[in-house]
Amino acid sequence: MKLIDGISRMATLVKMLKKEGKSIGFVPTMGYLHEGHMSLVKAAKKHTDVVIMSIFVNPIQFGPKEDFKKYPRDIKRDEALAAETGVDIIFCPTAEEMYPEGFTTYVNVEGLSSVLCGASRIGHFMGVATVVAKLFNIIKPDVAYFGQKDAQQVIAIKQMVCDLNMDIEIKTIPTVRESDGLAMSSRNIYLSEPQRRQALVLKQSLDRAINLVSAGERSSENIIKEMRSLILRMPMVEIDYVSIVDTKNLKDISDISDEVLIALAVFVGKTRLIDNIIVKV
Ligand code: PAF
Repeated sequence: MKLIDGISRMATLVKMLKKEGKSIGFVPTMGYLHEGHMSLVKAAKKHTDVVIMSIFVNPIQFGPKEDFKKYPRDIKRDEALAAETGVDIIFCPTAEEMYPEGFTTYVNVEGLSSVLCGASRIGHFMGVATVVAKLFNIIKPDVAYFGQKDAQQVIAIKQMVCDLNMDIEIKTIPTVRESDGLAMSSRNIYLSEPQRRQALVLKQSLDRAINLVSAGERSSENIIKEMRSLILRMPMVEIDYVSIVDTKNLKDISDISDEVLIALAVFVGKTRLIDNIIVKV
């Protein structure tokens, strides 16, 4: 496995791979890898010749009061895990090279970026879209892999790829969960034991929603009310949002009649956690 930190070295290697006719699978990450990331790598290995993973804690997708500084980082551990899973190349650029002085161009996926997580994380999706566009331009992947856990992110990236005519297939891989149901996230490391237990309410509230829909409930208002009351039983958990939206445009749906995304974000102490499911009727 190669570890590359310079953009021009990465671009040269990509040129060589393309010349050899190799297809490139790309897994963008911010590191502190877990099974969720590994499931993206495993999917990439099945479909493409070379798997490139980026590890870059992207400063421009964090708000001023967010956890950029304390975001967990452990490149040695990441390297070992990536090698074990079959990553061929890790690309870990520096922030200075990605955003040199004079950098002024940003990608904004309008509409999709300002709802759900975007309503409280102002500028977050512009930071994500910008870094992903840059990484796509450097790595020139045939296929890029994203996790369903970040549903809004992958919907915004798909829109960007379509709007900007990027010739890249975006694949969404199902959320990987701990055995008790908590969605895997690098931020789970922040949780104390009692917080970790209360965080299970994210998945429990989604399960409650599935049961309600299975029992014939179609009113989003009623489902959201039930989910919120379940969550509010946990004193350490504060709700950011619980929403039922269209899976393509993220607009609120009041009566469920087709496919919907049920998504939520909560704070467990200071840690912001998200989860979602897609429900079809
Ligand atoms: O999902 C993530 O880890 C990040 O948002 C991404 C896609 C690597 C962009 O920084």
